[in-house]
Amino acid sequence: MLCRQREGEQSPQERVLEANMHEDVDQILISEEQIQAGIDRVADTITADYRGKEFSVVSILKGSCVFASDLIRRIPIPLELAFVSAESYRDGTESGQLKLNFFPSGNEIEGRNLLLVDDILDTGKTMWNLKKELMDRGAAEVRSCVFLDKPSRRAVEYDADYRCFEVEDLFVVGYGLDYAGRYRNLPFVGSLKESVITPAG
Ligand code: IMP
Ligand code: MG
Repeated sequence: MLCRQREGEQSPQERVLEANMHEDVDQILISEEQIQAGIDRVADTITADYRGKEFSVVSILKGSCVFASDLIRRIPIPLELAFVSAESYRDGTESGQLKLNFFPSGNEIEGRNLLLVDDILDTGKTMWNLKKELMDRGAAEVRSCVFLDKPSRRAVEYDADYRCFEVEDLFVVGYGLDYAGRYRNLPFVGSLKESVITPAG
C-alpha cells in the first residue's frame, strides 16, 4: 500500500530539492566580480594571439559550458564553436576512467586551429588525452584555455596556454564545476561544507 504524506508535510526528497544550494557552500573562493575580471584578462590575450587567424573554440562538456559561453562573448574576432564531452569524474571527488565523446565532425577538426576550453586542469589527463586525440585526427594546432588550474595535482606533464585562476588542492564547485552533478549553476567558485561531501550516518 502507498504511504501517503500528511498534507503540508515534506518528504526527505522534497526537502533536498527545495534546499538553497548556497547553504551548502563553506567559503566563496572566487567571487563573481573576480571571475569577470579574470575572464576579461584572458580574453584580451586570446584576442591578440588569434587576431587574423582562423580558429575554433572547443568547449569540453559539461563543466566548461558556463566559462566558455562567457569567454567567447569577450573575444570580438571571428571564431567557430565546437563541443566534445569528457567524463572523468563519477559521483564523487576522485578521478575515474576517462570517456571521450566527439561531437565535432571530421571537418571541424582536420586542418583547424583548435582552442580547447575546460573548467579546471587537475591531473591533466583530460587535456593530455584530448590534445593527443585531436592531433591524431588531423588538427593543425591544439592550444588550451582553462578557467582554473590546480598545478599541485598534476599527474601528467601538461600546462595550459591560457588560464584564469590558480587554485590550491581543494575540491571546488560553481561556475560550471559540479559535485555529483550539482552546483554547476552557482555564480561563484566555492568550497563545500564537509557535511555535504561526507553526509553523516
Ligand atoms: P583532469 O583530467 O584530472 O585534469 O580532470 C579534469 C576534470 O576533473 C575537470 O574537467 C572537472 O570535471 C573535474 N575536476 C577536477 N577537479 C575538480 C574540482 O575541484 N571540482 C569539480 N570538478 C573537478
Ligand atoms: Mg569536467
